[in-house]
Amino acid sequence: MRQQPSDVTPLPQNNHSLPSRAPLPDEVSPLLGNRTPRQFMRRYWQKKPLLIRQAVPGISAPLSRDELFELADSDDAESRLITHFRNTWNLEHGPFAPDELPSVKKRDWTLLVQGVNLHDDRAHALMNLFRFIPDARLDDLMISYATDGGGVGPHFDSYDVFLLQVHGKRRWRIGAQRDLSLKPGLPLKVLQHFEAEEEWVLEPGDMLYLPPHIAHDGVAEGECMTCSIGFRAPSAHELTAQFLYHLAERTGEKASGKADARYRDPAQPPVDTPAALPSLLVERVGAILANVDWSDKDIAEFLGTYLSEPKANVVFDPPTRTLNEQKFVERAKKTGIRLDRKTILLYNTHSYFVNGEAAALSAKAKKWLPELADTRRLEAKRFVTLTGDLAMTSLLHEWYRAGWIHTDSLA
Ligand code: SIN
Ligand code: CO
Repeated sequence: MRQQPSDVTPLPQNNHSLPSRAPLPDEVSPLLGNRTPRQFMRRYWQKKPLLIRQAVPGISAPLSRDELFELADSDDAESRLITHFRNTWNLEHGPFAPDELPSVKKRDWTLLVQGVNLHDDRAHALMNLFRFIPDARLDDLMISYATDGGGVGPHFDSYDVFLLQVHGKRRWRIGAQRDLSLKPGLPLKVLQHFEAEEEWVLEPGDMLYLPPHIAHDGVAEGECMTCSIGFRAPSAHELTAQFLYHLAERTGEKASGKADARYRDPAQPPVDTPAALPSLLVERVGAILANVDWSDKDIAEFLGTYLSEPKANVVFDPPTRTLNEQKFVERAKKTGIRLDRKTILLYNTHSYFVNGEAAALSAKAKKWLPELADTRRLEAKRFVTLTGDLAMTSLLHEWYRAGWIHTDSLA
């Protein structure tokens, strides 16, 4: 079935009323229902749901429906189509050509596009309103589009999420469900015995915060769009596996050039039970593994590189006409620089981590790098005061060439 998007009024696209930054820790903000981030974090974060009416008054969808459909058609974005036609749940993964989506006149379907913040400045700006929570926890901004009756079914997530209604209405029902059993044989996780405890209809600007494991079901009332700002919480299993991988890589790097420590068995006697695992082998390998050790610095280095690693589908766009270092510095002195929306830059006292790479944070870099990481830009005036630092200009020129940072165009 072909959709005919031109039949329906396009969704509005401008967010003139979007605040320019996240609230400061002790700043009262409508985003959190006239609470400060400190109050929100203490009372609700990871603890209990919170409904906030008019968290972002006057908001409209960061992308129009057609723009979202276009993104769902590209290889760069992760998208899913969930239909609930004739009471049957179905899930398909994108990309979706325009004629692969059901008609917008048909009810009971929803399109979810993940990581919209990586592709669109307006979505990125919206996500940045939540930077009172550390970037290390931030995952992405997903947009869901649904026709009347559309949704993903009652379920729970392992994520903290802010569900911000940006167009049309959605009815949310939530509950601290004990019975987490799922309907068998479905392509998506739908709770078998969902029991709602609270219910609200959200209108544009309204927002619902949900901590992990609170069951929820959001059903569109007419055509609607919802932005989900999600926060990752890696499992102990994932962290352990990834950390051990990181340690193994590091051990490999340390050993390179030297003869690698290897299992040896010069004292092995001959055997008449060749299939038996030698106890000497277990003992010796135990001795090798007992040498594995790590410090807090290794844990920080692992977390910094792991959490700043771009997602698999992220590709940076280097400048089309690359300026040499001198010209780049001249330009940046006039326009300042800003991080690309896909760049993840984290730091601690000793190191910084940019897009999955770790490096030592020198005393000189401490003057500018934390500022660039926290505000995601260096104003022109600020850049001018820093240009005596040749290590800085050369590093930033490298990042500029990789498409990790940009100068703005000259006015
Ligand atoms: C949606 O926006 O439709 C789904 C978001 C969610 O329930 O996690
Ligand atoms: Co959910």
